[in-house]
Amino acid sequence: MKIAVMGASGRTGSRIAQDLLQAGIDVVALGRDAQRLVALQRRGAQIAVGEVDDVTYLARAWQGVDAVYALLPYDVSQPGYLASQERQSRAMVQAIAEAGVGRVVQLTSVGADQAGATGMIRSLHAHEARLGELAGVDLLLLRASHFFENFGPALPAMLASGVHADGVAPDIKLPMLSTHDIADAAIAALRDPDWQGRQIRELLGPRDLDFVEVTALIAAHANRPDLRYQQVGTAELSAGLREAGLAADVAALCVELVEAFNSGLIHTLQGRSAATTTPTTLQDALPGLFTTYATVQQEAAQTGTVSPS
Ligand SMILES: NC(=O)c1ccc[n+]([C@@H]2O[C@H](COP(=O)([O-])OP(=O)(O)OC[C@H]3O[C@@H](n4cnc5c(N)ncnc54)[C@H](OP(=O)(O)O)[C@@H]3O)[C@@H](O)[C@H]2O)c1
Repeated sequence: MKIAVMGASGRTGSRIAQDLLQAGIDVVALGRDAQRLVALQRRGAQIAVGEVDDVTYLARAWQGVDAVYALLPYDVSQPGYLASQERQSRAMVQAIAEAGVGRVVQLTSVGADQAGATGMIRSLHAHEARLGELAGVDLLLLRASHFFENFGPALPAMLASGVHADGVAPDIKLPMLSTHDIADAAIAALRDPDWQGRQIRELLGPRDLDFVEVTALIAAHANRPDLRYQQVGTAELSAGLREAGLAADVAALCVELVEAFNSGLIHTLQGRSAATTTPTTLQDALPGLFTTYATVQQEAAQTGTVSPS
């Protein structure tokens, strides 16, 4: 069995590639930077370096594979988010057809069923639709909820100021999960030859949380009982995101995303079940988030207090 993994240096892709290699499966690891794929190459992966909007590169990397783990990467610092996502999506769909890929496990998002007004999820809706037009491809859409990892970049500023500031209303409960659990769900699907056709599986984390509870769990982990959640308005949210380095159009999409959370536009269609509930809790994830963000990005404390999700 040979499986291609997009974003193999990223959060979900790196874990998927490592675990597949560990299981003795041939892996083609895709990414933009060969240096960030060296560890996988040493463990036996074939690496394929290129840009996701390059059809020739993708089709070559996917030649002869049994399945592809796919995601639409993004760079929040670059303007032109939706146009760039559309270029990447079209290239991926064309390359799947050209390479004759028969099975795709695609990371997408809760809310991708909605056609508009979902901020950054808009491009995932369009991508799902394009993938759906491919004939003869078994397609699993993994619709993940809000990542725990989204809270990471805001940790230094949060700890410095004592305030977790974001636009989500304090009484809105959202499903949230660890990217480890997305990887585990993807690995199981990539290795399972039995599913067919077009499938959708939502991944909702262990339970819904509001941002006040999230802040309380961060406060407990950091031994910072003073830490509190504060909802900020759209102007302040947007200014904070711009200060944190987001391009203007990306900041506007983040604001739209937050409004879609607050209005309930983004919501689960499948509800909680054994299939949609995933095991890792925020308490489980916090030590890793603190190691990654709070200890090595202290300088971010100077630059803003909101979390670019
Ligand atoms: N954040 C959320 O709450 C949330 C919720 C649901 C779904 N999602 C979806 O999750 C996906 C991100 O997954 P992730 O967290 O596993 O990824 P990630 O950690 O952000 O990593 C992105 C990967 O893609 C690669 N990459 C970035 N730009 C690229 C380009 N132009 N061409 C080729 N490769 C490129 C990166 O490689 P290098 O940087 O090494 O080149 C890296 O390996 C997105 O599609 C997002 O919409 C997010």
